[in-house]
Formats: sequence, structure tokens, C-alpha cells
Amino acid sequence: MKALFVNGSPRKNWNTFKMLESAMKGASEAGADCEFVNLYDAAFKGCVSCFACKLKNDKTNGLCAFKDALTPVLEKARQADMIVIGGPVYFGHVTAMTLAFTERLMFPLMNYDMNNRTKLDKVIPTAMIFTMNCPEALAEKINYNKTLGANVEMLKAIFGYSEMLCAYDTYQFSDYSRYYCTMFDEAAKAKQRDTQFPIDLNNAYELGKRLAAKVSELN
Ligand SMILES: Cc1cc2nc3c(=O)[nH]c(=O)nc-3n(C[C@H](O)[C@H](O)[C@H](O)COP(=O)(O)O)c2cc1C
Repeated sequence: MKALFVNGSPRKNWNTFKMLESAMKGASEAGADCEFVNLYDAAFKGCVSCFACKLKNDKTNGLCAFKDALTPVLEKARQADMIVIGGPVYFGHVTAMTLAFTERLMFPLMNYDMNNRTKLDKVIPTAMIFTMNCPEALAEKINYNKTLGANVEMLKAIFGYSEMLCAYDTYQFSDYSRYYCTMFDEAAKAKQRDTQFPIDLNNAYELGKRLAAKVSELN
């Protein structure tokens, strides 16, 4: 069973990475053969609207026809039995690179046919892990679950199964005293990091484990 973990954060060892690392540990313990990719290692574009994947004699087999540095990642995703995508929230949405990746991942697998939305003939369990500065109560108030959840709903339609996990109120800098940010209370942030983030990491671990079990459960 192949599991792909995709980091949509430019930071390679921060909150999103740590959540993915934990999910990977869970999946690995459940028997998955895990691979990890940092999206910011590749210079790539989002969907260029070539519509090669929508042609009547479409030969793409669900793989984006536009070739660039993302192609090897998309090939890995096409081979994967489960996919977990991690993305920090930037201005209320997932990062641009994460979005560009999901466009190129999902559009070639999506049919323009309301009765048959997906080209896939099996369920591939997927999940999105979002990390954000915003505390949970504020995220709910400003409808983050809805805007971020739209990505997850699309994954569900195409891959047959998707989950969403959020880590709120993340610790953003290694040393708050060096930055101009009167908006945040460093002590409260540190408390959240030390008390809540370990719980978030455990939720990610459980998610990885659960998703790996879903691979055989749902097929
Ligand atoms: C350009 C930029 C925009 C951001 N916008 C938001 C935002 O709209 N809402 C939010 O909750 N956090 C926002 N953040 C904070 C990040 O989402 C948060 O720190 C996240 O955990 C970073 O992930 P990382 O540690 O893996 O890099 C923003 C950060 C950056 C750099």
C-alpha cells in the first residue's frame, strides 16, 4: 500500500511538516509504504487550462498532460493508494502552491459529467491538514471550515473519501521577540504550542492510521 504525503508549506520543518510527519508515522505503523514530497522544491504552475484531459479521445489516464517539475509528484499521486496534503492557511485559503497542486491533481481525474464525476474506479482515501495562526473560535466565526472545506469536498467527489484536520493558533516564529507583531501574545502562543499542538499531532497520527485502514475497508 503506497501512501503519499505532500507538504504545501514553504517551511520544511514547521507546523505543517510536523503534522504530516505524525500522519506518516500513523500510516506507516498501519502498514503503508510512505513517501514525502515538499511542493516548494519544485517550480511549477497551476492548471493551464489546456483541456487535454477533457478531450473525447483523452489519453491522459487521469494524469495532467502539462509537463513541468510537478509531473513526477503527480505521477506518484497517481500511483498512491492514499494521499495526505498539508497546507498552511494564507489569507484565508490554502497556500498558492497547494492550490496549484490540487488543481493539477484533481482536474485530470474529474469528468465533466454530473452522473459520473470521477475517472477513478477505486476509492483513494485522502485528507487535507490545515495549519493556521487563527484560533479555533475565530476560524469558526469567519467560516474557515467552509472555505477550506471546499477543497476537501472536491477531493471527496473525485477520490471517493476525504477528511479534514486543522491545527489552530500555531506558533509562527522561533523567537517572537525579534518580530514586530503586537497582535499576538507570545506566552499564550507558547502555551498553545506546548499543550494543544501535541494533541493536534496525535490527531494527525490517528488520521494517518485511519486512512491507511480505509484503503482496504473502502475497496
Ligand atoms: C503570507 C502568510 C499569510 C498568512 N495568512 C494567514 C491567515 O489568513 N489566517 C491564518 O490563520 N494564518 C495565516 N498565516 C499563518 C500560517 O497559516 C500559520 O503560521 C501556519 O501554521 C504556517 O505553517 P508552517 O509553520 O508549516 O509554515 C499566514 C502566514 C503567512 C506567511
